[in-house]
Amino acid sequence: MNIINYLKSETDAQVPHALPGPWGLPVLGYLPWLSQDRVFESFNDLRSQYGDLFQIKMGSWPVVVINGKKMLKECLEVHSAAFAGRPEFFTFQGYCEGSSLAFRDYDPCWRMQHKLVGQALGEMMRSTDNKIEGLMNHAISKTMHGITQRPSKAIDPQEPLRALAFEMACAMCFGKQSTTYEDSLSKQIIDTLVDIFNMRKPLQGVDIMPWTKVFMGKKMAAFRGKQNDFEQLMAKKIHKVITESTSEDRWECAVNALKVVGEENAEAMDDVGLSMYRLLQSVQDIIGAGADTVGNLPRWVLLYMVHFPAIQRKVQEELDGILGGEKRGQGRMATAEDMQKLPFTQSVILEVARHAAVVPMSIPRKTTEDVVINNCLIKKDSLVFANYHSAAHDANVWVDPETFRPERFLTESGEIDTAVVQQWPMFGYGKRRCIGEKFGRLETFLIVTAFLRRFQVRQIPGEELPVLGEGFCDISMEPGSFKIILDDRINRSSRAG
Ligand code: HEM
Repeated sequence: MNIINYLKSETDAQVPHALPGPWGLPVLGYLPWLSQDRVFESFNDLRSQYGDLFQIKMGSWPVVVINGKKMLKECLEVHSAAFAGRPEFFTFQGYCEGSSLAFRDYDPCWRMQHKLVGQALGEMMRSTDNKIEGLMNHAISKTMHGITQRPSKAIDPQEPLRALAFEMACAMCFGKQSTTYEDSLSKQIIDTLVDIFNMRKPLQGVDIMPWTKVFMGKKMAAFRGKQNDFEQLMAKKIHKVITESTSEDRWECAVNALKVVGEENAEAMDDVGLSMYRLLQSVQDIIGAGADTVGNLPRWVLLYMVHFPAIQRKVQEELDGILGGEKRGQGRMATAEDMQKLPFTQSVILEVARHAAVVPMSIPRKTTEDVVINNCLIKKDSLVFANYHSAAHDANVWVDPETFRPERFLTESGEIDTAVVQQWPMFGYGKRRCIGEKFGRLETFLIVTAFLRRFQVRQIPGEELPVLGEGFCDISMEPGSFKIILDDRINRSSRAG
């Protein structure tokens, strides 16, 4: 090698390169080639061409896409603060005037809010009287009873499971004052949130291409109006919960727990400009983020159980064995303590979450500083998508990743293999990973155990079902709508046929 080539190669090794990636059109960038409902699939295709870390242009934004378990960990865990920002999207800014836990940018105020919400949820989980679990199980029993009373045996589980997830999220936030459909204020809160979810999708174009706002004025104003209504309703409910609670209820629900940790940290909150009002409004995030995911995952589980009747039978044998009952299908509701005792059921939930990649991408993130990964420079303020789907189906991690096989999560002696569980970022990586993980796991477990103990799930003859793992994605992945038969395992004759 001559001296010039030697010096050039030395300099190349030191100077970070630009990220690889495809060219795009002016104004639109690569948008015309991206799938609308399953953008992670387009990213998976680009990964095979450009590697685990690439860049594309989406509208006005340079977007960095992170793929594969190894690269996701490297970026989001090793460089966690650099990848912890959130972009100033129009649809993010309206929640809590831009101060929401899920959508606020990474700054000292967010860090304090995140710490205190984590502390409040942790205390609730640790509190010994299990009031939330009781309320959640009550909501589940009510939903199952409603299903058994329906005249038709063919059911689209979307509506009852979505309503149940909202009800459980309200239980978490408002405790015994939550009972959604018996309390008009909680019902108004949920209805407004559902409107917000529905209005958000068409406005996501404004996030990516802010110039399109000239055509979207009315829709944007209506969206902001709904977000303000939501905040007002929440303020009313929070006030009601606080004034009607006693000191005994302090860890009963998120509103009360947040008030306690807020009072204990008043000075530190002042220092970063976090008000008690804003801290309490974090329940907006708990309801929004919690209900979306918990509404979808059990629906996927039912769908997989229709496809895999032998696995369903095995789950039901395990449930009947542990939760008891003289007749099959009878017995008690599960509790958090049963999680360890029902490893096969748990492995089924984990494998459904992995195979369907129930949250396939991170909520959009933004880099908070320049960062060099693999000798490539990623500039501060780049928009970032973490492609978690690529980790769920990463052939470097999983043997036959496309096969549905719950046993992959079990040790040889039939326990949950925690090392395998950690291979899959079901709750994300890094500083913006899910703050509700423990509740998410518990809620899903309570719903799935109750439904599969009570109901035999089967296909309606001739009825087509969605393809496994092929859903539509907003934040979490939803299966397309489908109807199934839920046979009551206790009063079989009334619902058979
Ligand atoms: C099975 C259920 C759930 C799953 C699979 C799930 C998964 C996730 C994932 C993957 C993220 C994104 C992390 C990222 O951006 O990289 C997230 C964020 C979040 N989740 Fe969950 N989640 C679940 C349940 C819940 C529940 C019950 C709550 C309520 C406490 C919750 C609250 C949140 C919040 C507030 C965020 C935003 C965190 C932030 O921006 O720092 N999630 N979740």
